[in-house]
Amino acid sequence: MTDVSPLFKPFRIRGLELKNRIVMAPMTRSRSPGGFPNDENVAYYSRRAAADVGLILSEGTLTRRRGASDDANVPLFWGEQAVAGWQRVIDAVHAAGGKMGPQLWHIGMARRPNSGHFPDAPSDSPSGLTLKGKKLAEEPSEAEVLDMAQAYADAARDAKQLGFDCIELHGAHAYLIDQFFWERTNQRTDRFGGSIERRAEFARETIQRCRAAVGDLPIIIRISQWKMADYTARIAQTPEELARWVSVLAEAGVDAIHCSQRRILEPEFPNVDGAKGLNFAGWVKKLSGLPTISVGSVGLSSEFTGAFQGQGSAAGKLDEVIERLGRGEFDLVAVGRALLQDPEWAQKVQQGRLDELRDYDANALQTYY
Ligand SMILES: Cc1cc2nc3c(=O)[nH]c(=O)nc-3n(C[C@H](O)[C@H](O)[C@H](O)COP(=O)(O)O)c2cc1C
Repeated sequence: MTDVSPLFKPFRIRGLELKNRIVMAPMTRSRSPGGFPNDENVAYYSRRAAADVGLILSEGTLTRRRGASDDANVPLFWGEQAVAGWQRVIDAVHAAGGKMGPQLWHIGMARRPNSGHFPDAPSDSPSGLTLKGKKLAEEPSEAEVLDMAQAYADAARDAKQLGFDCIELHGAHAYLIDQFFWERTNQRTDRFGGSIERRAEFARETIQRCRAAVGDLPIIIRISQWKMADYTARIAQTPEELARWVSVLAEAGVDAIHCSQRRILEPEFPNVDGAKGLNFAGWVKKLSGLPTISVGSVGLSSEFTGAFQGQGSAAGKLDEVIERLGRGEFDLVAVGRALLQDPEWAQKVQQGRLDELRDYDANALQTYY
């Protein structure tokens, strides 16, 4: 019998008390036409809150920069109608006993030009470079870069006012914040470009502005080595570089780091600590001293990018993930597809009903409940 108890020990991030270690991973569903959270979205999140997910992270939701997305069904996190929609989401999640934070998102140069809520808006970037490194636009001025940072802080302020329990900055997967981290897309020669510390300067600026906007509310940042456009890309080649990267985030004042991997059991630096070595979240925790969230194929046998090609995934074992959590390698575990498939996943695990955990169905993205 798998001992699931480490997953159900409470945890605290700053002042936020979580009843267990299970986090719903942020997942874009494109179910908010016009950018406005609606009744279906309220039901979707509150269903998972009622079924004992410890912390829900919303799908990526957009800052007020008009070129932030290329999909007009992705929710906005600004403007009267969208904010009113989010108020209903968080009130329903709280009524169901849950905790939730919005994942604040800007896709930068991952955007197809002339698309999204505001097709005419220009795309934002560090250097006007596409994810392949091709010049598409002029490098933005420092004042424009600072407004991109402030746009996250404005959304963070609204999140706090609405009563959300934390915020998460999407700093992973080659979206805007990660485009500053990544040398291929950041060729700036001012304080926002150059060394790994300087490429983290945009994140530092954003975190500090968010902190000024939210006071004591926990701030999480999600980061990744890999990019949607390039699975082999890495920001930090060595533990030493990783330490330099995450120390900027820690000093800027984040409360936790969400370390995105596609497969949670993959060691980050196997040449240093072996094939069973620490994963990305393990290394980030060790080097930053901050709590970390780990993620990637939890409870499933294959990784998530296949989902976008309509691939399913068989249910897999949880033992090693729980063992590593219990050892303190990382503090929280985010679950994506398994929670899309089955809103009651956390309750079933807690009640030891592991034989009831279902495979992830190839058609799961076509349904929404
Ligand atoms: C449909 C779908 C949408 C996603 N959207 C986002 C997103 O908006 N922001 C984000 O950081 N990650 C996103 N991800 C990645 C997930 O947060 C998670 O890291 C990934 O699915 C791995 O977890 P899993 O193997 O448990 O599914 C998405 C994944 C899926 C399947």
